[in-house]
Amino acid sequence: MKRLIPTLRADACEESLISVLNTVQTAAKEIAFRLHQGAMAGVLGSTLDENIQGETQKKLDVVANQLLKDLLLECQYVHAVASEEEDSIVVGDQRGEYLIAFDPLDGSSNIDINGLVGTIFSVLPRPAGIEGEEMFLQPGKNQVAAGYVLYGPSTMLVLTTGQSVRMYTLDQTVGEFLLTKPEVKIPHQTQEFAINMSNKRHWSTAMHEYISDLLAGKEGPREKNFNMRWIAAMVGDVHRVLSRGGLFTYPWDKRKPNKPFKLRLLYEANPMAMLVEKADGLATDGYDPIMTIQPTDIHQRVGVVLGSKEEVESCMAYHANHP
Ligand code: AHG
Ligand code: MN
Ligand code: MN
Ligand code: MN
Repeated sequence: MKRLIPTLRADACEESLISVLNTVQTAAKEIAFRLHQGAMAGVLGSTLDENIQGETQKKLDVVANQLLKDLLLECQYVHAVASEEEDSIVVGDQRGEYLIAFDPLDGSSNIDINGLVGTIFSVLPRPAGIEGEEMFLQPGKNQVAAGYVLYGPSTMLVLTTGQSVRMYTLDQTVGEFLLTKPEVKIPHQTQEFAINMSNKRHWSTAMHEYISDLLAGKEGPREKNFNMRWIAAMVGDVHRVLSRGGLFTYPWDKRKPNKPFKLRLLYEANPMAMLVEKADGLATDGYDPIMTIQPTDIHQRVGVVLGSKEEVESCMAYHANHP
């Protein structure tokens, strides 16, 4: 089986980008090791701190963030990083040509139950003539690479550099990510969806109607039965969608008028949107493609509806009826 770096060279990726992705895999292997040690490494449980999102940080959110930040800022090709766990961007090498946005640990609530968690990352080009946070305010279509690492029964890296979407599995015996699925394609149709149903009473009319029609099954207007799965880590739910199709959504929610969305555009929605669209799926906010949204803030949140093309289009039709 092929190792990660030779597959990137075969794609004629820039050596600078290969170096950045190599740094991400090094950090991911270290995070995987700490996660597997679990309670023995004393890394489970919460800290007393809150991040800028108002969430209590788990110890592993902090550990994973520190590892990624330190290693990426040592890489000469990285100009700056933005992270879920950092209030503002952190600038590294002045000559660096890339910006990296990341969610160091996605699915924090799964840590203490030994459930699926992951690292999500997005690589953007450094724009000329702009400094500070504004550098990161680029639509997702500018991404030069995007991916995630899933820490599950096996540790997997799922990556695209704009060509195909590939899955690699960490071979613990040699400590290398090996290519195990060379080309991921999402089936256009599905009978599986993922949503946190407990928020039902807070959704928009469009989402309410769409999910009700899925639940009505064969006897309802969709005339087929749907199955529901929810991992509570976007990385796990998107991995299922990439593996066998499906629709994943974290929709608008009326509870907090100033914070109506949960997922973050730069380091959750955009990288997942690139993977899903390169794998022949669709990623929207219910109305427009995620990757066309012009960000105004590095921690901006967004509604997400992604997965099997025809199912995402069905969901969008409900939104079009209730603009
Ligand atoms: P994070 O752990 O990085 O803060 O992200 C959590 C997100 C995402 O992974 C997942 O889809 C969602 O929160 C789960 O939320 P619920 O608590 O509604 O299940
Ligand atoms: Mn969080
Ligand atoms: Mn997350
Ligand atoms: Mn996180």
